[in-house]
Amino acid sequence: MRLFITGGSGLLGSRIAEIALERGYEVYSGYSSHKPESGEPVKLDLASPESAVKVIGEIMPDVIIHSAALTDVDRCEVERELAYRINVEGSDVIARAARRSGAFLVYVSTDYVFDGERGMYRENDETNPVNYYGRTKLLGEESCRDFCIARTCVIYGAKPASGKVNFALWLMDKLEKGESVRVVTDQFITPTLNTNLARMILECAERRLRGILHLAGATRVSRFEFAREIAEVFGLDDNLIAPSKMDEINWIARRPRDSSLDVSKAEEQLKEKPYGLKKALRVLKEEIV
Ligand SMILES: NC(=O)c1ccc[n+]([C@@H]2O[C@H](COP(=O)([O-])OP(=O)(O)OC[C@H]3O[C@@H](n4cnc5c(N)ncnc54)[C@H](OP(=O)(O)O)[C@@H]3O)[C@@H](O)[C@H]2O)c1
Repeated sequence: MRLFITGGSGLLGSRIAEIALERGYEVYSGYSSHKPESGEPVKLDLASPESAVKVIGEIMPDVIIHSAALTDVDRCEVERELAYRINVEGSDVIARAARRSGAFLVYVSTDYVFDGERGMYRENDETNPVNYYGRTKLLGEESCRDFCIARTCVIYGAKPASGKVNFALWLMDKLEKGESVRVVTDQFITPTLNTNLARMILECAERRLRGILHLAGATRVSRFEFAREIAEVFGLDDNLIAPSKMDEINWIARRPRDSSLDVSKAEEQLKEKPYGLKKALRVLKEEIV
């Protein structure tokens, strides 16, 4: 299989590239400014449509996994035009190019399409994003309706990617240095290990599954509980984790309070099941050591 991953330098895309190479696929890793380590690097600017059309026309992939996005939620709130160009128009260009070249597409979407008033959302639940990032990702879904839409939630993994550390690595670094952290107790999520997510997405691509799927971790926790679980599995001092509340944080964009995803459909349909949190953290520990 010839696979083109947009966002190949990102937290998710880089792990998809690694696993796809292990499976013997021909992998092209799209990036904007951080050259990917796995797969054939392909420079791509989603903000300029010709760039994506040209790249896909040259590669002629069997499958495109569209993982790239402007993911900085506060930046999307401020730089709305750029967020729209990359997340909405960029996704539309990718979907059109996929149709034209006969490629199957998996669009990676987000729990932030929901308002977070209820939690444990299923695929057909009503969407109602509370910030601009969520709005752009939802509009991106519109262009990809005839393909696979994989919504996920708070991704973490063993390595920094796209020039950033993820929540788990940030927390471990702080606790290892003996520094205290404040983590919110009133925001609920289904955190997702990138390895598990990459395998679920590859299965969707291999089986050409269409429609919306919630691909996330199988355990709903508060961010505070998530932090404490990480500390426990990695033998770090959880007394350094102090509780705080969402309204104490100076975010620019509003965040959903409970954007946890119900993954029953994935549990029923996929061979690669969503991991519970304890299993995911055990796998993470093996990957880090
Ligand atoms: N991380 C989460 O917790 C989370 C939760 C729910 C959903 N998601 C969704 O999951 C997907 C993957 O997220 P992630 O955490 O892996 O993202 P990430 O680590 O922030 O990486 C973003 C990727 O997009 C690329 N990119 C950004 N702007 C671009 C542009 N103008 N043209 C081409 N490529 C561009 C980046 O390239 P460079 O590195 O070269 O800049 C990078 O490869 C995204 O679609 C995101 O919306 C993420």
